[in-house]
Amino acid sequence: MARRSLQGATFGARYGPFAIVAGASEGIGRAFAHELAAAGLHLVLVARRAEPLSALQEELRAAHGVEVRAVPCDLADPGAAEVIAHAASGCEIGLLVFNAAAASVGRFVDTPLDAHLRAIHVNARAPVLLAHTFAGAMAERGRGGIVLMSSLTAFQGTPLVATYGATKAFNLILAEGLWSELAERGVDVLACCAGATHTPGYERVPPVRAPSWFEPKPQDPGDVARAALQALGRRPLIIPGIGNRIASFVMRRLLTRRGAVLTMTKAMKARYDRPS
Ligand SMILES: NC(=O)c1ccc[n+]([C@@H]2O[C@H](COP(=O)([O-])OP(=O)(O)OC[C@H]3O[C@@H](n4cnc5c(N)ncnc54)[C@H](OP(=O)(O)O)[C@@H]3O)[C@@H](O)[C@H]2O)c1
Repeated sequence: MARRSLQGATFGARYGPFAIVAGASEGIGRAFAHELAAAGLHLVLVARRAEPLSALQEELRAAHGVEVRAVPCDLADPGAAEVIAHAASGCEIGLLVFNAAAASVGRFVDTPLDAHLRAIHVNARAPVLLAHTFAGAMAERGRGGIVLMSSLTAFQGTPLVATYGATKAFNLILAEGLWSELAERGVDVLACCAGATHTPGYERVPPVRAPSWFEPKPQDPGDVARAALQALGRRPLIIPGIGNRIASFVMRRLLTRRGAVLTMTKAMKARYDRPS
């Protein structure tokens, strides 16, 4: 694929002048914010903690001279979309990046029900709320974009992160459906199925052992964000990183579904399962 520059008028004309990054203060979301500000887009940044968010706001304003609005808000709240729409009033939103996720690694029955429901609210309900809130105006204008962060866990059931993986499958299927439906209205939609990526969220649950030589190494968040933004408008799905694409090809095309789940079971148990 020819690399597309995010600089210059084309990207901004198609996806500007404002972008929302939901889950922006750390990790891949922070990388999206940096890439988009460097491309000249104004930003509406969302995360729960106000301090890292306002630090990023200042940093991006100073580095790129763009307008940045910071919206401290919990995306698990059913009213989150209204809070964000209010904070973004007067801004023409041309791009929505839904990046935040609630994730916990642990055995299903040992993990409190609240954590499972929180994952559904943040990872599945909130993208629908935000897409529904902002896609209508994009469709009326006949241009815009939506990026939903998914994961390699979207492609098969994965033990120890079963609910999280199910929400990531939801993101993938939602994005593919919207990719087709909104294309007629000029709005590009993309699912980004990332593999392991060096972020604070990833580091909070460090694997018991390092990945084996044949498992893809964790990626840099900037590489993931750039791959997604370069793929937007070209395809419905991007898997950043050649190692992740090969792993995904093996899991999806060469193994049976049962075989894929059992392979993930082996990998997850070796990496994360601690004796209870
Ligand atoms: N890192 C990986 O290895 C990996 C692999 C595959 C897929 N992904 C996907 O990539 C995306 C980003 O992952 P990441 O590792 O970069 O995440 P992360 O480091 O945990 O960062 C998540 C960002 O979202 C915000 N956030 C989390 N929960 C929120 C909530 N309820 N409401 C508002 N903001 C919230 C966080 O800030 P606050 O804490 O202040 O709210 C932070 O800015 C996720 O969708 C994840 O599923 C990641």
